[in-house]
Amino acid sequence: MAVLKVIKAGDPVLRQPTQPVTRITKRVSRLIQDMFETMYAEDGVGLAAPQVGVSKKIAVIDVGEGPITLINPKVINGFGEDIDVEGCLSIPGKQAYVKRLAQVKVEALNEKGRSVLIEAEGMLARALQHEIDHLNGILFTDLIDEKEIFEGDG
Ligand code: NI
Repeated sequence: MAVLKVIKAGDPVLRQPTQPVTRITKRVSRLIQDMFETMYAEDGVGLAAPQVGVSKKIAVIDVGEGPITLINPKVINGFGEDIDVEGCLSIPGKQAYVKRLAQVKVEALNEKGRSVLIEAEGMLARALQHEIDHLNGILFTDLIDEKEIFEGDG
């Protein structure tokens, strides 16, 4: 396993549309392991493949409730509204209050290629939306006004 370099905002790879994963190859499995290692090394709660330079629909999350792997994830349902502080490993030192769906239902494949349905609220719901946005080339700073960004270690 290896800690990968986290790509910072301004790099075009963060804006490219990602490709769906069609097969869980050894290379994909290894990438997932490296993404977890990188996320934990950077004290993050989520990491998407474009952030390590890979334009594929893969993300990892751990908000303190255990590791979750998302392959080809999709929000299939959402309810309510929640505003809370958010940061991103690709935008170090910056945070903002971001409005998100309070509850989401996400369909994805897990690391074994099995279909999973994740129902979440709170921090996990926020992390799911943040990481899925990354897979569509969207950063949290796109969702707010620039003047709402403040200094913080998120
Ligand atoms: Ni992020």
